[in-house]
Amino acid sequence: MSSLYAKPRFSVKALTAAIALSTFTLPAFAEDVEVLHWWTSGGEAKALQILKADLEKQGYGWQDLAIAGGGGDNAKTTLRARVLSGEPPTAVQMLGFSIQEWAEQGTLANLNELAAKNDWDRLVPPDLQRFSKYDGKWVSVPVNIHRTNWIWANKKIFDDLDLAVPTTFDELLAISDIIRKAGYIPLAHGGQAWQEATIFDSVVMSVGGPEFYQKAFVDLDLDALSSPTMVKVFDQMKAVRGLVDDNFSGRDWNIATAMVIRGDAAMQIMGDWAKGEFINAGKLPNKDFLCFEYPGTSGTFIYNSDQFAMFEVEDARKKAQLAMAQSVMDENFQEKFNIVKGSIPANLAVSPTNFDACGQKSMADLKDAVKKGTMFGSIAHGHANQAAIQGAIVDAVTDHFNSSASSETAAKTLVSLVQGAM
Ligand code: GAL
Repeated sequence: MSSLYAKPRFSVKALTAAIALSTFTLPAFAEDVEVLHWWTSGGEAKALQILKADLEKQGYGWQDLAIAGGGGDNAKTTLRARVLSGEPPTAVQMLGFSIQEWAEQGTLANLNELAAKNDWDRLVPPDLQRFSKYDGKWVSVPVNIHRTNWIWANKKIFDDLDLAVPTTFDELLAISDIIRKAGYIPLAHGGQAWQEATIFDSVVMSVGGPEFYQKAFVDLDLDALSSPTMVKVFDQMKAVRGLVDDNFSGRDWNIATAMVIRGDAAMQIMGDWAKGEFINAGKLPNKDFLCFEYPGTSGTFIYNSDQFAMFEVEDARKKAQLAMAQSVMDENFQEKFNIVKGSIPANLAVSPTNFDACGQKSMADLKDAVKKGTMFGSIAHGHANQAAIQGAIVDAVTDHFNSSASSETAAKTLVSLVQGAM
């Protein structure tokens, strides 16, 4: 007979044994890494899972500090709070000049011993080392190279409407007209400041070319920044604004990518993390989607590289930190990770063989751009300037994109905001 009061059918001895066994079988990690990042979209999370699994295999646990918000604006705020409270995470996803700024504060670890043992000086492109190293010390580990001057397109819409890949901005406008008349949205866009700035990277390059990009946005030459070319850049931004739907405001970038994947919209101007979303949805390049450079930017490569900045942590956490740093630079890991993430490896030893057509194109284009001197850091993603300047540019761009201000006014605002941030 069974009742609530019936004598239990297990003995204390058996229960103790069961508890001991369950403790034994639970994954028990002697040490953890705590990682702050903003990889929360489907494709991003899948890529990150590869790193988690890699570390778990080596016996290290993963404490996830995921702060949603593409481009990492929210993550930056959390990081500041953690460092101020004296408890920095083990590793933090970080871009470009921010790494240097945190290193300047004396908050980052010295990874030189590991770097020397694993030959990082030879394996990492000099353009990335410039951010990974501070004062001769490796402080951060690059995991990828992303490119921002891409357009991602729905192949079926292009095929059905018999559209050719546009090579000039006028051609982009002409096909957009056809796309709209056929009932689709020409451009999927998410109205967030960093996404507008991501488009701006391409528009600056397309309108002004590499020399202008360098002068105005790397050297911050005020004549270039206030030149008639700058006004033309804002004209083109306004024309791009005309290609988006009415509901773009506040939309996340991956929701915009989903519009292209579903075939509601024909194109998205976005870095190749967008490819991670297509791949995650089971879509293939040249079968389901197309990747091509923003018109007028072919031959150039606008990059941003995600790095894991390693914070100075107490001794008990150092072993796990070094294991993570080593795994991030590992050739096999970088191949697997970047195939899923949409980016290309930061470790030059990785072969292009297993990458898809867009990845292989990116790797070849990068080589070519390095040779020609046309590889440039992304303005939007903190690889062209210090954070304060980057912020000033992003503000000017998004203000103009979301208002009826003239291009002349926008160019003037840009100059005064940049001057104020200098
Ligand atoms: C970028 C980052 C990419 C991607 C994107 C959207 O700043 O470099 O890896 O995650 O944000 O979240």
